[in-house]
Amino acid sequence: MTALYRAQPQDGLAWVTGASSGIGRGTALELARRGFRVLATARSIEALETLVEEAAALPGSIIARCVDVTDAELQKRTIDEIEVSEGPIVLAFLNAGIYWPMRAHPFDATSFKKVFDVNVGGVVNGLDVLLDRMTARGRGQIAINASVAGYIGLPRAPAYSSSKAALIVMAESLKIETDSLGITLQVVNPGFVKTPLTDKNDHPMPFLMELDDAARFICDGFQRGGFEITFPWQLSRILKFLRLLPYETYFSLIRKATGLPPKP
Ligand SMILES: NC(=O)c1ccc[n+]([C@@H]2O[C@H](COP(=O)([O-])OP(=O)(O)OC[C@H]3O[C@@H](n4cnc5c(N)ncnc54)[C@H](OP(=O)(O)O)[C@@H]3O)[C@@H](O)[C@H]2O)c1
Repeated sequence: MTALYRAQPQDGLAWVTGASSGIGRGTALELARRGFRVLATARSIEALETLVEEAAALPGSIIARCVDVTDAELQKRTIDEIEVSEGPIVLAFLNAGIYWPMRAHPFDATSFKKVFDVNVGGVVNGLDVLLDRMTARGRGQIAINASVAGYIGLPRAPAYSSSKAALIVMAESLKIETDSLGITLQVVNPGFVKTPLTDKNDHPMPFLMELDDAARFICDGFQRGGFEITFPWQLSRILKFLRLLPYETYFSLIRKATGLPPKP
């Protein structure tokens, strides 16, 4: 069996979505540290400009473009232009995502749909830009940032958990085909990482990781290959184990752990 493609800086560009903050920002910098020329996209142009400046002293470099992942047309146009001026994208980290704590009551369908629009729709728009052109070139590497929250429905996260479950299952399904197209498809399932997204949480975050450690772990995973990149291993294994339990046992354990009222 031949090893799947692993992108190298001399092959072309890396692209990171949601690169203005948190995990995307950290990973874009780490890729530039490892010699990649990185296209960083997000909506906040000022934050992206600061990122470009921060990367100036690194072995690689960062170029930035203002792109909303839900704007499929703009994203496609941007990638078309970048590939003409800078060369092919050989590694993409589809990372942009949003999270709000949500409840069963009052139920907020508008926020629910927005989470799916960005977390799932944004990744689909990225795949739409990448899969055909990488297939035509016979090589490419794509990593989708999901979450351990996609392993099982977590409390106060009906939209977030289900959007991440959708990404994991989407990646599993695509992977069955992408191997034979020469494309290395990976899914990244982080536990809690200290970023503006998790700063919203007022509950305990077991095994919380520092951003730089997470970014290094993700880039090591790109180099290593393999389908899933998940960390920290303790939280990942606990949640995978909980998924195997009978539902009533899981619901009762999680209500107790989070202080939610028990079943009447
Ligand atoms: N932090 C964690 O513990 C954790 C754990 C597991 C998975 N994750 C996943 O990691 C990813 C990044 O999260 P983070 O913690 O780094 O959060 P963050 O600091 O809030 O960063 C989110 C990034 O996504 C971008 N973004 C949001 N909406 C966008 C849109 N419509 N179009 C383009 N970019 C958009 C934001 O940039 P702009 O606002 O400038 O557009 C920002 O750069 C998310 O997919 C998240 O679900 C995080």
